[in-house]
Amino acid sequence: MTQWIPVASQDDLFDGASLSVDAQGSEVALFQIEGTVHAIDNICSHGDARLCDGFLLDYEIECPFHQGRFDLRTGAPTCEPVTAPVKVWSVKVDDGLIWIQVDSD
Ligand code: FES
Repeated sequence: MTQWIPVASQDDLFDGASLSVDAQGSEVALFQIEGTVHAIDNICSHGDARLCDGFLLDYEIECPFHQGRFDLRTGAPTCEPVTAPVKVWSVKVDDGLIWIQVDSD
Protein backbone atom coordinates (compact mmCIF):
# COMPACT_ATOMS: atom_id res chain seq x y z
CA MET A 1 0.00 0.00 0.00
CA THR A 2 0.99 3.59 -0.47
CA GLN A 3 0.07 6.82 1.21
CA TRP A 4 0.62 10.53 0.65
CA ILE A 5 2.59 12.44 3.26
CA PRO A 6 3.18 16.21 3.46
CA VAL A 7 6.87 17.11 3.21
CA ALA A 8 6.92 20.89 2.74
CA SER A 9 4.84 24.00 2.38
CA GLN A 10 4.19 25.17 -1.17
CA ASP A 11 5.65 28.50 -0.05
CA ASP A 12 9.03 26.81 0.53
CA LEU A 13 9.57 26.27 -3.21
CA PHE A 14 9.50 28.50 -6.28
CA ASP A 15 10.44 28.21 -9.94
CA GLY A 16 14.10 27.29 -10.39
CA ALA A 17 14.53 26.40 -6.72
CA SER A 18 15.30 23.10 -5.01
CA LEU A 19 14.60 21.75 -1.56
CA SER A 20 15.74 18.68 0.36
CA VAL A 21 13.03 16.96 2.37
CA ASP A 22 12.63 13.80 4.41
CA ALA A 23 10.03 11.31 3.22
CA GLN A 24 9.79 8.73 5.99
CA GLY A 25 13.55 8.31 6.19
CA SER A 26 14.31 8.79 2.50
CA GLU A 27 16.09 11.95 1.40
CA VAL A 28 14.16 13.45 -1.50
CA ALA A 29 15.00 16.50 -3.61
CA LEU A 30 12.18 18.73 -4.81
CA PHE A 31 12.52 21.01 -7.83
CA GLN A 32 9.97 23.41 -9.27
CA ILE A 33 9.95 24.12 -12.99
CA GLU A 34 7.30 26.33 -14.58
CA GLY A 35 5.02 25.77 -11.61
CA THR A 36 5.35 21.99 -11.58
CA VAL A 37 7.06 20.21 -8.70
CA HIS A 38 9.36 17.24 -9.44
CA ALA A 39 10.74 14.87 -6.82
CA ILE A 40 13.75 12.53 -7.13
CA ASP A 41 16.17 10.81 -4.77
CA ASN A 42 18.45 13.49 -3.38
CA ILE A 43 21.59 11.34 -3.36
CA CYS A 44 23.32 10.88 -6.70
CA SER A 45 23.54 7.31 -7.99
CA HIS A 46 27.26 7.86 -8.71
CA GLY A 47 28.43 9.07 -5.30
CA ASP A 48 27.55 10.80 -2.07
CA ALA A 49 26.46 14.11 -3.60
CA ARG A 50 23.21 15.92 -2.92
CA LEU A 51 21.38 16.70 -6.13
CA CYS A 52 19.48 19.58 -4.48
CA ASP A 53 22.87 21.37 -4.51
CA GLY A 54 23.29 20.83 -8.25
CA PHE A 55 22.51 23.03 -11.21
CA LEU A 56 19.18 23.05 -13.01
CA LEU A 57 19.33 23.02 -16.81
CA ASP A 58 15.76 22.92 -18.11
CA TYR A 59 14.50 19.50 -16.94
CA GLU A 60 17.96 18.20 -16.08
CA ILE A 61 19.80 18.40 -12.78
CA GLU A 62 23.59 18.44 -12.93
CA CYS A 63 25.32 16.78 -10.01
CA PRO A 64 27.62 19.16 -8.10
CA PHE A 65 30.41 16.53 -7.78
CA HIS A 66 31.24 15.22 -11.27
CA GLN A 67 28.66 17.00 -13.45
CA GLY A 68 26.65 13.88 -14.27
CA ARG A 69 23.05 14.70 -15.17
CA PHE A 70 19.59 13.24 -14.62
CA ASP A 71 16.24 13.96 -16.23
CA LEU A 72 13.95 15.12 -13.42
CA ARG A 73 10.89 13.65 -15.14
CA THR A 74 12.22 10.11 -15.47
CA GLY A 75 15.26 9.89 -13.19
CA ALA A 76 17.24 8.61 -16.17
CA PRO A 77 20.93 9.50 -16.49
CA THR A 78 21.52 11.89 -19.38
CA CYS A 79 25.23 12.65 -19.06
CA GLU A 80 28.24 10.63 -17.92
CA PRO A 81 29.68 9.68 -15.53
CA VAL A 82 26.26 8.68 -14.13
CA THR A 83 24.91 5.45 -15.60
CA ALA A 84 22.27 4.40 -13.06
CA PRO A 85 18.95 6.20 -12.66
CA VAL A 86 17.64 7.81 -9.50
CA LYS A 87 14.14 7.14 -8.19
CA VAL A 88 11.35 9.49 -9.22
CA TRP A 89 8.79 10.05 -6.47
CA SER A 90 5.13 10.77 -7.11
CA VAL A 91 4.43 14.28 -5.93
CA LYS A 92 1.39 16.54 -5.74
CA VAL A 93 0.51 19.97 -4.42
CA ASP A 94 -2.68 20.26 -2.43
CA ASP A 95 -4.01 22.57 0.24
CA GLY A 96 -0.81 24.65 0.21
CA LEU A 97 1.37 21.63 0.89
CA ILE A 98 3.71 19.44 -1.18
CA TRP A 99 2.94 15.74 -0.79
CA ILE A 100 5.08 12.70 -1.60
CA GLN A 101 3.73 9.20 -2.13
CA VAL A 102 5.48 6.62 0.04
CA ASP A 103 5.06 2.96 0.75
CA SER A 104 3.15 2.19 3.91
CA ASP A 105 3.03 -1.01 5.93
S1 FES B 1 28.63 11.93 -7.41
FE1 FES B 1 27.18 12.65 -8.87
S2 FES B 1 28.24 12.53 -10.77
FE2 FES B 1 29.63 11.71 -9.33
